[in-house]
Amino acid sequence: MNIHEISDGIHYVGVNDRDTQKFESLWPLPYGVTYNSYLVVDEKVALMDTVEIPEVGELLDNIRDIIGKDKTLDYLVVHHMEPDHSGAIPILVDEYPEMKIVGNKLTIGMIKGYYHIDDDSKYIEVADGQELSLGRRTLKFVTTPMIHWPETMMTYIAEDQVLFTGDAFGTFGALNGGVVDEQLDTTRYLREAYRYYANIVGKYGNFVMRGFKKLEGMTVGTICPTHGPVWRRDIDKISAIYTQLAQYESDPGVVIAYGSMYGNTAAVAEKIAEGLALRGMKNITVYNAAQAELSYMIRDCFRYKGIIIASATYQMNIFPPVRALMDALESREVKNKALGLVGSFTWAPGALPELKKYAERMKLPVVGELAVKQAYSEADQPKIDALCDAMVKAVEE
Ligand code: FEO
Repeated sequence: MNIHEISDGIHYVGVNDRDTQKFESLWPLPYGVTYNSYLVVDEKVALMDTVEIPEVGELLDNIRDIIGKDKTLDYLVVHHMEPDHSGAIPILVDEYPEMKIVGNKLTIGMIKGYYHIDDDSKYIEVADGQELSLGRRTLKFVTTPMIHWPETMMTYIAEDQVLFTGDAFGTFGALNGGVVDEQLDTTRYLREAYRYYANIVGKYGNFVMRGFKKLEGMTVGTICPTHGPVWRRDIDKISAIYTQLAQYESDPGVVIAYGSMYGNTAAVAEKIAEGLALRGMKNITVYNAAQAELSYMIRDCFRYKGIIIASATYQMNIFPPVRALMDALESREVKNKALGLVGSFTWAPGALPELKKYAERMKLPVVGELAVKQAYSEADQPKIDALCDAMVKAVEE
């Protein structure tokens, strides 16, 4: 068995991408990313998903290393149509003209739309629960809409207790030699799973839980996602991260994100951090929203219970980098958090009223608030103390 054979007859043929700077042109990739593809070799040969188009050469080499140059692929199962996984479909169709593309109705519509592969004889349309025999094994398809797009589905192979999950259970980070978690130190992949989930899948928590419910009753020994390691030893750990975040459940801790032009709002944020620390809170992260990278702030706001937003008034509104974070949380429908609000101003309090409207819209409880005129003064301290008291209580509840 070589390191890419994850179980008898099931091979990893995915690729590392250490070149792309930003996933979806948005999210930094300091450790790279993988586009995972798997080959199931039975009487019939099925490829599970493809890769981003620039990586297609490596995918084809990986496939040929296993089945040789002359053998064809019988099936390409498409679990998810986002182009990081579907980009190479047209090349695969050219390389393997006898290959059938297996997908649900939505998948096939998207392939036609993206890649103009209009010949219906190329497709096998499958529905939720439908099965396809490869010979010794049978593929069972489970539709899991909105993890992460409407067409997403998973495939279960009962004979091997293997589940191909698309983006679910995925994480950032290229693979460093090993493929299965047992071959790797997964600490960094698990940490990056918070950032991956919060930024990529975070909007669809209800759908994630609905999808996971459909998996109950399946015996799963190996999870093969489309990004990051194959999970076997750490299935419980990656599942716990996904189910926690999908249900908007929090770890104890507070994120303070501030926007400050001349340091006065920053000084208040630091006072609040000190106040929380004085009350025994250890897990506090302070972000200068104008400098910090958005995806890390989103990650921590998903993960931790307390969020304190401190904004200078800018053009009678919220300071733009703070607004960007707030918009990101709103679009992801973040729930079950305790909010603290600070709005600073020079002549008219523009930020705090907007922050309060936001909390109301988001239906998030505000445990404390204060308006700071010009610069921190002793007179602000009682409200800071009250905010810290209430936030510690809310986080510990
Ligand atoms: Fe990895 Fe939603 O694509």
